[in-house]
Amino acid sequence: MNSSVVSHTPLVVRTSVGEDFELADGVVSAGEIEDLLEILGEERTEAEIANVLPVRAREHVRQLVECLAAHGIIRPAIRPTGKTGFEALLEIEDLSNHLLYETLYRNEFWTNCSKATNPGDVPESVVYGMVIENYHFLFRESYFDAPVLSYVPNTKVRLAMNEFFSEEYGHDELLLKALNRIGISRDDLAHTIPLPQTMALCNGLAYWAHNDPLFFFTTLGILEGKDIRQDSFLDAAFRIGIDPEFLRPVKAHSDINLQGEHGSLTRKIFSQIPVVDEETMKRMRTQTYLFVELYDAFYSAVWRHYSTAGEILRRVDHL
Ligand SMILES: [Fe+2]
Ligand SMILES: [Fe+2]
Repeated sequence: MNSSVVSHTPLVVRTSVGEDFELADGVVSAGEIEDLLEILGEERTEAEIANVLPVRAREHVRQLVECLAAHGIIRPAIRPTGKTGFEALLEIEDLSNHLLYETLYRNEFWTNCSKATNPGDVPESVVYGMVIENYHFLFRESYFDAPVLSYVPNTKVRLAMNEFFSEEYGHDELLLKALNRIGISRDDLAHTIPLPQTMALCNGLAYWAHNDPLFFFTTLGILEGKDIRQDSFLDAAFRIGIDPEFLRPVKAHSDINLQGEHGSLTRKIFSQIPVVDEETMKRMRTQTYLFVELYDAFYSAVWRHYSTAGEILRRVDHL
């Protein structure tokens, strides 16, 4: 229902788009119409409407409803089909967890980190490379966060994203501090390029943030360490005796994620989404495969490149 009685004599009903309808005298009383419009504020069946107008024949009620609908005074109730945002997210999380355990957690980077105990089990260059590629990634975070800062469909989601971005801003500087410790300056980094797999991840996320923000939100929980990724990398680095002064700012970043509960941002966002239809679910499932592949490729490339690279920085002037 999207209308109200605006005049009793003559009897005039105004719709939400400002159209006025005068109802013929004697057919229905103003009181009856007011009662009717009030109960039509919620979803009702024809039989329920007939109960409000007991003196009218069922056929009369049917004609009245048809007439009101034809003039746009009431709308047929269409029940949303699909899952709640939270149910939808749980399904996507199940799928992404399954895929992460099938691929990413079995790749060279991950398996070597989890079993590393002695110096050299993970080459120092891989630890440094991981921080360099993470720097490149965080340095470009605005590419993929910016498009959703203006997320119009849901105010609470938009506010949560803005709060998150203001907490994220400048995290590349923390990793820069670590890299300074091993003699890599801001200027050095400005003259280097990320691995193509790092850039592919940035570009994929920027594409989704622009074109499929709902799916983009599902990736945040994984990127922000809903899982155990970040801590396991750090634990391995401490175990194999990497300079704690180098690791301190990296750990500071990890702690911010934990304390700010960035890993649960996705759940917070999806609890505000009332419904996700089946078509959207299909699209999100498909893209989850692609995202996990990109993410796996990122870590695999860090291992492949930095465990064998002679020079640690991919300087543009040396390419
Ligand atoms: Fe961060
Ligand atoms: Fe974060």
